[in-house]
Amino acid sequence: MNDASSAGGDVHADAPLRLWGGAFGSGPSEALQALSVSIHFDWRLAPYDLQSSRAHARVLHRAGLLDEGELAQMLAALDALQKDVLAGQFLPTATDEDVHTALERGLVERLGVLGGKLRAGRSRNDQIATDLRLYLRAQARLLTELLADVQAALLEQAERHVESAAPGFTHLQRAQPVSFAHELLKHVHAFTRDVSRLRDWDRRTAFSPLGAGALAGSTLPLDPQTTARELGFDDACANSIDAVSDRDFVAEFGFATALIGVHLSRLGEEVVLWTSKEFGWATLNDAYATGSSIMPQKRNPDIAELARGKSGRLIGNLVTVLTVLKGLPFAYNRDLQEDKEPVFDSIDTLTVLLPAVSGMIATLTFDIERMAAAAPTGHALATDVAEWLVRKGVPFREAHELSGGCVRLCDEQGLELWELSDADLEGVSALLTPDVREVLSVRGALDARSSFGGTAPERVQEQLEAARDEVADSTAWAVLQSR
Ligand code: ARG
Repeated sequence: MNDASSAGGDVHADAPLRLWGGAFGSGPSEALQALSVSIHFDWRLAPYDLQSSRAHARVLHRAGLLDEGELAQMLAALDALQKDVLAGQFLPTATDEDVHTALERGLVERLGVLGGKLRAGRSRNDQIATDLRLYLRAQARLLTELLADVQAALLEQAERHVESAAPGFTHLQRAQPVSFAHELLKHVHAFTRDVSRLRDWDRRTAFSPLGAGALAGSTLPLDPQTTARELGFDDACANSIDAVSDRDFVAEFGFATALIGVHLSRLGEEVVLWTSKEFGWATLNDAYATGSSIMPQKRNPDIAELARGKSGRLIGNLVTVLTVLKGLPFAYNRDLQEDKEPVFDSIDTLTVLLPAVSGMIATLTFDIERMAAAAPTGHALATDVAEWLVRKGVPFREAHELSGGCVRLCDEQGLELWELSDADLEGVSALLTPDVREVLSVRGALDARSSFGGTAPERVQEQLEAARDEVADSTAWAVLQSR
């Protein structure tokens, strides 16, 4: 290893390495340093910065700017540095402005003068945009896997409850009975769209900014398209100014994660309701519930509540990114450094939230009897009566009125629809013959809703199998494509 202090005079034993400053009379003030430093959050990009450095070293070699021996030394030093970074042996110092500065210091420490050659033809502007794309593409795959675990937990519960009846709601009022698996699967569908959004985002993000330099490209004979493919991108960005300015991929990632948060929040809200004494539909496993410091009887659904609560910060992070971008002139502006903390926070939030939600869902136990008993109550079969009349040729407008008449009678007498006598029914309308009772059963109500996407158990079984295939497909994408 070369002595860093002999490395071309740009590194002094006691002065911090900076990637700029040749034209400056003095170093930065402490206030400026404190404000502009990003190493405490961008250090997580180090493996991606090293990955793009290796690709850049190769392009410099192809351009004749590094000879065979220099390339070999450069790659070996980058590998060694990567090893040290991953092992925690090489750490950033308080005076490393950002990840690029820290890693250049590491390289120069290992290579001496030669380490200074890597920066040719590249700028932190194209580097940071490249690192962030590489990192987020890998994170999209990890999130897909964590979402698949939540989906698997929902699917497993759904498998047990295809035939279980539960009240279905509109306006949170009992509406029509449904298969409980149908309720669970609706969440699987929402998460499937989230994954498809990430995959779609990934196609748009698969373009490499590396080679754009500060903004205008390079006078050196670099080959951004080859570098792009080496880094697993589909191609290089077609406009170098756009390449260093664009953060659409951050905003879109922010939206995709915010919407995942909203979906988790809506699921969380249902778990809060289901596990309340008032509903009494579900019980949380001890490992996924919390107690109260004063009320010994409490089993609180904190995971579900945090799922609801954390959606707030996920939405906030998206708003932060959009606000940073609004009105920002092209190309690079230092404002863009503010794109990272929000999106990192969204990733960290989901990385702790998703496993907790999967565990909570997988271990919920449901009181199927209680749900089934509640399913037909609140006159939830009134639509079935109306549609029975429609099948007899009665216009729906009139059928709705007649069924409503039955409901009124029930309310007056404190009865449910199936408790009305034949005489009561006939009193409402001669059309309501006793065989209307054939639709006054929950099972009948479920089976009858056999239209595509409907709640009939046979349809729900099909939905379940299709959803399982979709989850398998997204898991395969996440695993195969993860680098
Ligand atoms: N830390 C910077 C960021 O995150 C890296 C790019 C700095 N570029 C510059 N011209 N100062 O955006």
